[in-house]
Amino acid sequence: MALSEEIGRRRTFAIISHPDAGKTTLTEKLLLFGGAIHVAGAVKSNKIKRGATSDFMEIERQRGISVATSVMGFDYKGVKINILDTPGHEDFAEDTYRTLTAVDSVIIVIDGAKGVETQTRKLMEVCRMRRTPVMVFINKMDRPSKDPFDLMDEVESELKIRVRPLAFPVSNGPTFKGVYNLYENNLSLFLSDNRQTADGETVDITLDDPTLDGYIAPFTARLKEDLELVEGVYDSFEREAYLHGELAPVFFGSAINNFGVRELLDCFIKIAPSPRPSTTQERTVDPYEEKMSGFVFKIHANMDPNHRDRIAFLKICSGRFERNKPYLHVRSGKNIKFSSPTAFMAEKKSIVDEAFPGDIVGLHDTGNFKIGDTFTEGEKLKFTGIPSFSPELFRYIENADPQKFKQLSKGVDQLMDEGVAQLFTSRLNGRKIIGTVGALQFEVIQYRLEHEYNAKCRYEPIQIYKACWIESDNAEELADFMKRKHANMAIDKHGRDVFLADTSYALTLAQEKFPDIRFHFTSEF
Ligand code: G4P
Repeated sequence: MALSEEIGRRRTFAIISHPDAGKTTLTEKLLLFGGAIHVAGAVKSNKIKRGATSDFMEIERQRGISVATSVMGFDYKGVKINILDTPGHEDFAEDTYRTLTAVDSVIIVIDGAKGVETQTRKLMEVCRMRRTPVMVFINKMDRPSKDPFDLMDEVESELKIRVRPLAFPVSNGPTFKGVYNLYENNLSLFLSDNRQTADGETVDITLDDPTLDGYIAPFTARLKEDLELVEGVYDSFEREAYLHGELAPVFFGSAINNFGVRELLDCFIKIAPSPRPSTTQERTVDPYEEKMSGFVFKIHANMDPNHRDRIAFLKICSGRFERNKPYLHVRSGKNIKFSSPTAFMAEKKSIVDEAFPGDIVGLHDTGNFKIGDTFTEGEKLKFTGIPSFSPELFRYIENADPQKFKQLSKGVDQLMDEGVAQLFTSRLNGRKIIGTVGALQFEVIQYRLEHEYNAKCRYEPIQIYKACWIESDNAEELADFMKRKHANMAIDKHGRDVFLADTSYALTLAQEKFPDIRFHFTSEF
C-alpha cells in the first residue's frame, strides 16, 4: 500500500473520562467490534481502586496493565484504529495530558446520570488548547439519566464547546430501547439478551416504518418530537467545525449493553481525522512527507527491577518508519537503529518491520531517552506541544541514605525523564523540590527509588500554591522581580526560571505588581 493510503486509513485517538464513567467498558466494546478481542472482560481495568494508595502491589499491577494496554490497534472496515490508553486515576492526569499530545482526536465518555465531572473538565482544557477534535459519548443510558437536552446543554456550557447530537436515545433507565442514528437516519435496536459480544441480533429500521411502534412503543411519538426539536435547535452537523475542535458531535448509549457503540464507531471512522500535521520549533511537519519523523510521548520503565531497560513510545509523525534503519536522535546527535520495534494489537505485542504516521511504536531504551525526544532521518527538529503542566503538590526531596547519593540522583533523574513528576531546584538554597499532579506520585517515587535504584528518600513539606514559568520582554522588570522574589525562585530541569507562588493571593499580587511579566501554567508558551 502506498504511504498516502496508509496514512489516510489511520485514526489515532484516546478515550478520556472521569473515573467510572465507562472508558474501559467502551474501549472493550470497540475492540470487540474490531475483532481484536472475542470476549468481554479481556481488557483489564487500568485503574487503581480508591483507597489503594498504600498498596504498592496494586501500583505495580497497574503499571503492568498500563504497558500492555498502552496502545490498542486494530482494523475495522479497512480503517486502522489506534486507541491510546490513558490512566484512569486522576493522580496520573499528567500522563493523560501527554498522551493527548499524540492523538489526532478524542472521545469523551460522560456518565448520563452524573453529567460533566471535574476530570472531564480538566482534560477538555487540554483538548481545547490543542484544538483536538472531540466526540462525546453519553454512557449508561440504561440507568435513570438526566434529560438528553439538559445533558447536551451541560456539555456545551461546562466543556465550552458547541454540540450537535448524531445519535439520540429512545427513553432511558429500565425502559431504554436504543438509539436513533441521526447520521444514517435509522434506528438500530439490540434485540439479543446476550450483549457481551458484538454480534448480537440487531434490527435497522427507519422513522416512518409502520412496524416501528412494535419495537419502541410507547416512546414512538416522544422520539419523533425529540428529533424535531433536535433539528429545530441544533445546526446541521459541520465536519469542518468538528475537525477544528469547535463542535462536538454527541452520541448516547450504554457501553455495557452495546447500545450505541456501533453507531459511534461507524460514524467515527467516517468523520474522525487521519493524522494531522505536527508543529516543530522549526516548521510544520506534514504526515505525507517522505522522510520519517516522530517524537517520544511516553516512557515506561521495566517491571523487572533487575533490568533497568525501558520502553519509549514513539509517535510517528511523517514518512515510513523502518526496522534496522538508523535514525537521528536529535537531542544527542547520535544515529540509532532499532532491531526490535514493537507494535501493539490489543494486548499482544509484536515486532514490526514498518510503521506509519499515526502509529505508535515501542522502542527499547537503556535510559537515554526523554519525553519529547525527536527522531528524524537527519533533520534537526524539535516537536512542540508536549508541555509540562504546572504541578499542584510540592515537597522537598532529601536523601535518606548518605551512602546512596549517586543512586538517588540517577533514580530521580530517570523518573523525571519518564515524566512521573517534575523537579525544581530552589535558587535560594539549592534544595530539590518535587512537584506532582497527585499525592500518589510521591509514594510511587519513594517506592520505585527503593526497589529499582536501591536508594532512599524522604520528603519535607513546603508551602507552594503553584509553579509558573515566567518570561518578559522587559529585562529590567524581570531582574527586579527575580531579586525581590529570590526566595520563591527555582529552575526547572531545563534551567528555565520558575516562580513558586506560596499562595494564590501572592500570585495575584505578583501579577498585578509586575504587569510586564507573563506567568505561564504550562512549560510551553
Ligand atoms: P472507567 O474505565 O471510566 O473508570 O469505567 P469502567 O468502564 O470501568 O466502568 C465503571 C463501572 O460502570 C463498571 O462497573 C461498569 O461495569 C459500569 N458501566 C459501564 N458502562 C455501563 C453502562 O452502559 N451501563 C451501566 N449500568 N453500567 C456501566 P463496576 O461495578 O465499577 O465494575 P465491574 O465490577 O462491573 O467491572
